[in-house]
Amino acid sequence: MQGSQPFKAFKRNGSQIRISVIGTGYVGLVTGVVFAHLGNQVICIDTNKEKIDMLRAGKIPIYEPGLEDLVLRNAEDGRLSFTTDLGRGIRESEIIFIAVGTPPGDDGEPDLSQVTGAAHQIAQHINGYKVVVNKSTVPIGTGNLVYQIINKNKRQNVNFDVVSNPEFLREGSAMHDTLYPDRIVIGASSHKVAMRLLELYALLERPMLITDITSAEIIKYASNAFLASKISFINSIATLCEKVGGDITQVAKGMGYDKRIGEQFLQAGLGFGGSCFGKDVKALVHTMSKLGCNCNMLNSTLDINQFQPNRFVDRVEDVLGGLDGCNIAVLGLAFKPNTDDMRDAKSIDVIGRLLSGGANVSAYDPIAAENCRSIYPQITYCPDLYQACKDTSAILIVTEWDEFRHLDFERLKALVARRIIFDGRNMLDAGRVSCMGFDYYGIGRNPVILEEEAPLLHAAEAA
Ligand SMILES: NC(=O)c1ccc[n+]([C@@H]2O[C@H](COP(=O)([O-])OP(=O)(O)OC[C@H]3O[C@@H](n4cnc5c(N)ncnc54)[C@H](O)[C@@H]3O)[C@@H](O)[C@H]2O)c1
Repeated sequence: MQGSQPFKAFKRNGSQIRISVIGTGYVGLVTGVVFAHLGNQVICIDTNKEKIDMLRAGKIPIYEPGLEDLVLRNAEDGRLSFTTDLGRGIRESEIIFIAVGTPPGDDGEPDLSQVTGAAHQIAQHINGYKVVVNKSTVPIGTGNLVYQIINKNKRQNVNFDVVSNPEFLREGSAMHDTLYPDRIVIGASSHKVAMRLLELYALLERPMLITDITSAEIIKYASNAFLASKISFINSIATLCEKVGGDITQVAKGMGYDKRIGEQFLQAGLGFGGSCFGKDVKALVHTMSKLGCNCNMLNSTLDINQFQPNRFVDRVEDVLGGLDGCNIAVLGLAFKPNTDDMRDAKSIDVIGRLLSGGANVSAYDPIAAENCRSIYPQITYCPDLYQACKDTSAILIVTEWDEFRHLDFERLKALVARRIIFDGRNMLDAGRVSCMGFDYYGIGRNPVILEEEAPLLHAAEAA
């Protein structure tokens, strides 16, 4: 059973809208289940038969707190179904969401083949007026492209509209974010079609912004690029703190109290990962440079982010006097807590550097270990954090899972070979770690080093 949260029941107004969602990944599944929860009739479609079979059997292919409960309840109540039969999904719905992947190409340009593929399939099966809503994150102009594809290839002489409705959910809190979004952006070519979406979202009672399609597409990229830049900004100030002996956690607090700045996304650390920030900043750079816009700021955002794991491992290497033959524990593998998603996770860079330096890595993550195994089959995966730390010369915190906040230091002391913690997420209280007898290295903070390093406890290492 995935972590479940009781979500409020919405007072439905009786009108059921028939919806299909093409693409049953993180965004598609969460979108589908939330619309079903609001009382609509939803068909989730995917080309991946294994995924659809799992969902039909009541198994959830991704980890997301609260998702399982709502999927099971709505499927049981007959409002939510799953199919690979795209034609049926399209024919039976009034509103069709496109929520397929838009992975980055080599030069940062998003690969739109899943989106254009979905548009071609809609054209084949469209059998009456439909609203086609693009929820995937797509470059400026894609709304128009989807319209052209359907219009040119449709088999029946029917009308349709295309709307841009970008998604802002965060993995790990996707259900909450979809039920209580900060805003809902609807980019539409006419007020009439925007009203259809407004009606669909009305029960959520959240701020809605109606724009033209192009502005809606820009809002998504600009929002992610802004947040990513905030993270890289604080990480570049963290570098300064390390050089001059400042503490980035204090600096960020002092900045964040200013309402114009705000405290969110000012946590220095290993940088941003996941399937969206890096990909979306690269896509924006690609679009802007094609149009002759200056992208220096966004390129720096990416450079700083790429550099963070290297800086982190450089420090580990310096402190240990080399990596070769060292046993190192990596705590946290997912790109962020509360998800099993490994896409662009910082653990990939950190482990890659450790292995190429000759270290032996033992790793622990509450749920992402299996997904990491396909990337790094050669490291040791442990069922709990204490086993991962056994006989190690350093403990590296890479993902800020809550359970790492409550480390049992007494237990750790008896297990490790050397008492050193490198906190890649600045999640621990440096003073407390030190009091418990461990050296502490954070990001952009003064290290707290015990005057005399604790004696080697483990017989094997001591020998
Ligand atoms: N994951 C996030 O946190 C997040 C947040 C906001 C926006 N987005 C954007 O939303 C989009 C979807 O992201 P995701 O993380 O859900 O992707 P995902 O890879 O988890 O899911 C995409 C799904 O689409 C399916 N698919 C591809 N082509 C299909 C087709 N023609 N018909 C039916 N199914 C098809 C795939 O099999 C896959 O299951 C992307 O553009 C992403 O940038 C993602």
